[in-house]
Amino acid sequence: MQEIRQRVLKVCATPLPLLLEGESGTGKETLARFVHARSLYRAGQFVKVNCAAIPGPLLESELFGYQQGAFTGALTSKPGWVESAHQGTLFFDEIGDLAGALQAKLLQLLQDAQFSRIGDQEERHVDARVICATSRDLEQAVERGDFRTDLFYRIAVFHIRLPGLRDRRADVLALAEYLVRELSAKFQKEAPPLTPEIKEVLLAREWLGNIRELENWIARYVLLGPEGILAGETRMLRSPSPNYRPAQGGTIPLKHIAKDAIQRMEREVILRVLQENRWNRRRAAEALNISYRALIYKIREAGLSQKTSRKEDPELGEGAENRVPLGD
Ligand SMILES: Nc1ncnc2c1ncn2[C@@H]1O[C@H](COP(=O)(O)OP(=O)(O)OP(=O)(O)O)[C@@H](O)[C@H]1O
Ligand SMILES: [Mg+2]
Repeated sequence: MQEIRQRVLKVCATPLPLLLEGESGTGKETLARFVHARSLYRAGQFVKVNCAAIPGPLLESELFGYQQGAFTGALTSKPGWVESAHQGTLFFDEIGDLAGALQAKLLQLLQDAQFSRIGDQEERHVDARVICATSRDLEQAVERGDFRTDLFYRIAVFHIRLPGLRDRRADVLALAEYLVRELSAKFQKEAPPLTPEIKEVLLAREWLGNIRELENWIARYVLLGPEGILAGETRMLRSPSPNYRPAQGGTIPLKHIAKDAIQRMEREVILRVLQENRWNRRRAAEALNISYRALIYKIREAGLSQKTSRKEDPELGEGAENRVPLGD
């Protein structure tokens, strides 16, 4: 991310188009707004165009605007988003979903910095920074013939790929701590600092929904507290298998699925045995036929906790948990 940040800071100072590629929730829109706020175009508007959500003909009139009488229902003239973005930033989200006819119009806009409202002869000039985002592999779309090659090269002058959160695990805790501060302020609710237990849960998860999923998790942490969120985690263990979907390369990481499934089963069994033994970890270890030390390690790994565990566990006095030699 440091490398991406360096590149992005250089891009900010130029008027050139930028293409952001990354799975859902990796922060494409956040980065686009970051660039806008530091660019030559920051005094203008940041206009977001969701290419996936709006059907072609409607998108065209929203984008380019229309003259009075241009079509049935055009009772007055209306400027489009392109005009609103003059001296600002036009952000095309899910650009891969842009219909063929509009791809041609966007290409023209990028080439000549000119456009006309629907039903109007007048050519209008616009000076706007164009940033596009896609959660699909646009190069593949070009190869398949679904996306214009010439448009691709126009929008991808700078091409930045945002990694999935599972590929930048080293950042998870820093992001989590930042989000705790942000969301505590937003919800006006003090949240305790992340405990080692919580951190282990954070590091163990796959985060297929990327930063958005982490943000939602932290929101629950802030609102429910550490106990509440860990109780939720154990409930989740009983739910059916998680929603795996192919990663960007079209692969399904079978190794991860198996490891994750085993961890989930283990956690469920360990929790049940701990509860049956009223959180007496020595007895639970005997019941599970593993060493006491191994159980302590697994409890930590699984992010399990019980508020009163210290009082109920005669083996461990105050602070003793920290003295348990965990090895690696
Ligand atoms: N660097 C970051 N630091 C903190 N929070 C972030 C960061 N990047 C993204 N987020 C948060 O994660 C969430 C998802 O980010 P964003 O909407 O930018 O992702 P996206 O790639 O556009 O996702 P989608 O494809 O689903 O639209 C947002 O709520 C945003 O506030
Ligand atoms: Mg987005």
